[in-house]
Amino acid sequence: MSDSGRLWPLVGRAAELDDLEQLLTEATEGGGAAVLLEGEAGVGRTSLVAALASGAGLLGIEVRTDRGALEGGRAADEQGGARVPARLVVLEDVHLWGAADLEALADVARDGMRPGALVVLTLRPVPHRPEVAAVVTAWTRAGARHLEVRPLPGAAATELAEEILGASIGPALRGAVSTAGGNPQLVVDVVTTARDVGALQAAEGGVDAVVPGWRGAVERRVRERLDYVDDEVLDLLGVASVLGVSFVVLDLAAVADRPVADVWRTLRHALAAGLVHARGDRLVFRHDVVRAALYGGLDAGARAGLHARAAAALREAGAPLAVVATHVERSR
Ligand SMILES: Nc1ncnc2c1ncn2[C@@H]1O[C@H](COP(=O)(O)OP(=O)(O)O)[C@@H](O)[C@H]1O
Ligand SMILES: [Mg+2]
Repeated sequence: MSDSGRLWPLVGRAAELDDLEQLLTEATEGGGAAVLLEGEAGVGRTSLVAALASGAGLLGIEVRTDRGALEGGRAADEQGGARVPARLVVLEDVHLWGAADLEALADVARDGMRPGALVVLTLRPVPHRPEVAAVVTAWTRAGARHLEVRPLPGAAATELAEEILGASIGPALRGAVSTAGGNPQLVVDVVTTARDVGALQAAEGGVDAVVPGWRGAVERRVRERLDYVDDEVLDLLGVASVLGVSFVVLDLAAVADRPVADVWRTLRHALAAGLVHARGDRLVFRHDVVRAALYGGLDAGARAGLHARAAAALREAGAPLAVVATHVERSR
């Protein structure tokens, strides 16, 4: 692991990095290009652009990461007709920028692409802000590509865990890693928490998490990671966590005692954040560990009350008796 705590090379990102490097070559040898690099929190946008930037550095391509990098517009680049140097401009976490900077960033898109430059903007789709949407619209009209950074496949997530620990991992830890839903940040959180609280022991040619009771520490860590999500969304997902990893939206509305349309309005943000995904009228938590963290964060009284409401709603909806009984039991 490097000093920054980042792992090199990146696990499971060869294809994404190839695409970006190809785009960098085309852009810097020609009329320029731009990419909007999107994805859920912790999915690895910063890691990917850092890898791209280090590759660019090796090729002698100037790397700029300051907000002033595009100042002066395209006219400044073409001043005097001199050939512009190849550049990679990386502007990170645009969704967090202030309104004035965002307006400027939307404005420079109207000049079109910069010859010799690849502009990479990284962003997260939530919380929704109109100024951010305006930037995305302006750059899309200018011809920017969208690149969605997806969660790591299961095998890559395991590989990442094993890289961090420098050992192969046993079934219990493997199971815990799979609750991260392929989100590298959550994989790092699960594995480093297990290590730091002393839950790991040598097992069959590797290590495993055999000391019980460490999941609570992981859940606390994950709740901190959810800080960026609006309270209203977190509250509703907390209610949903009582219903399980997948739940029917009608049932959630009943337990939350809110109109279905209202619940959908809030869930839109959870969907955009990549915290849940939709399967027809069901929603599924994308990361089991997030559901567990939200459930663990409910206070005992509220949790019991929600289980009682869930029991009533599910009984009414004709759910199997055993399911209803589980909720009744947990409501005590
Ligand atoms: N492909 C990867 N291989 C190894 N570690 C990764 C990978 N992607 C992300 N990470 C690690 O996961 C954490 C979050 O990644 P980061 O790039 O900061 O995510 P984002 O910028 O999308 O929020 C960091 O600790 C990073 O080192
Ligand atoms: Mg980042």
